[in-house]
Amino acid sequence: MRVFVAGGSGVLGRRLIPRLVERGHDVVASTTSAAKLRLLEELGAEGVVMNGLDADAVRRALTAARPDALAHEMTAISLSHAGKPDIKHPDRWFAGTNRLRTTGTDNLLAAARAAGVGTIVAQGYASWNGDPDGPAVQDEQATLNLMPGTASEVGLEALRHSEERVLDAGGAVLRYGALYGPGATDDQVELIRKRQYPLVGNGAGYSSWIHLDDAASATALAIEQHAAGVFNIVDDEPAQARDWLPYLAECAGAKPPMRVPVWLARMLAGDQAVVMMTEGRAFSNAKAKRELGWHLIYPSWRQGFRAEFSAPARPEVRAS
Ligand SMILES: NC(=O)c1ccc[n+]([C@@H]2O[C@H](COP(=O)([O-])OP(=O)(O)OC[C@H]3O[C@@H](n4cnc5c(N)ncnc54)[C@H](OP(=O)(O)O)[C@@H]3O)[C@@H](O)[C@H]2O)c1
Repeated sequence: MRVFVAGGSGVLGRRLIPRLVERGHDVVASTTSAAKLRLLEELGAEGVVMNGLDADAVRRALTAARPDALAHEMTAISLSHAGKPDIKHPDRWFAGTNRLRTTGTDNLLAAARAAGVGTIVAQGYASWNGDPDGPAVQDEQATLNLMPGTASEVGLEALRHSEERVLDAGGAVLRYGALYGPGATDDQVELIRKRQYPLVGNGAGYSSWIHLDDAASATALAIEQHAAGVFNIVDDEPAQARDWLPYLAECAGAKPPMRVPVWLARMLAGDQAVVMMTEGRAFSNAKAKRELGWHLIYPSWRQGFRAEFSAPARPEVRAS
């Protein structure tokens, strides 16, 4: 197939492109920066500069590429696009990403329609954001937590918008768990090493995790199978913060995390950190395994964290 990866230079795109190429596909991939065209070529793709918020540019890029499939991996979370992480104000930190999930999604879908693209997959999110009144582990039918009235609402609404439009267009939404792997958790690990990433309250909230390589393999399968509908792309072991956080700290060679009460965490880090660590509801991957025939390299974050954070840094093609 000919596959257009919008946002090919990001943490996920950098693992997805080589996988697609290895499986015999032709890949065209986008960046907003001409300086990263070389990186895309090194990964095996034909690079194109495209701003996802510019409808005409998106239409031109897709019409020129004439792909069979489109993967929407555009976010703006890195330092260069979003500035320093600001967990207390996710509405500010994720402002660019939210635009890419609303306007950017609409632009891609309109361009895909015009270019006759038959297969569409896009990023969703399924980590801690299940229904807080539901069970600890939830399937694709879950009513996602939109955290109404908080600074997280606008971002969770933007994801809902993107999901709805992609599903209306007959595409697949891949709700990735919290991504880890090369370049995906550097900020978190740095804070953990400085003991600035504490456990909140009882730490009983659940999250789902996924290694970038497992996320990439699920994405390639969804593309090849012209999948439609929602799929949770998470590992086999939903985990409580009180289990995964000290384990991650240990793997990263850091001291155990501090503990802070809910009131203090809410004041310092905002509502999302509190919900994630105390009320989080995670997700099941049964549907993706059953319907896509997906096999994970890292079925649990226990193996993945150990492999990723204990080993000496692996050579990686970096964005910059
Ligand atoms: N993706 C997630 O779900 C997730 C979750 C948690 C944390 N993070 C954090 O995000 C950080 C970096 O992630 P990332 O490397 O994937 O970077 P990113 O800044 O989120 O960029 C992802 C991709 O989207 C592209 N992009 C950005 N703005 C765009 C625009 N206006 N139009 C079209 N494309 C656009 C980027 O292109 P260029 O940059 O090449 O222009 C890149 O290819 C990591 O530190 C990771 O920890 C990501």
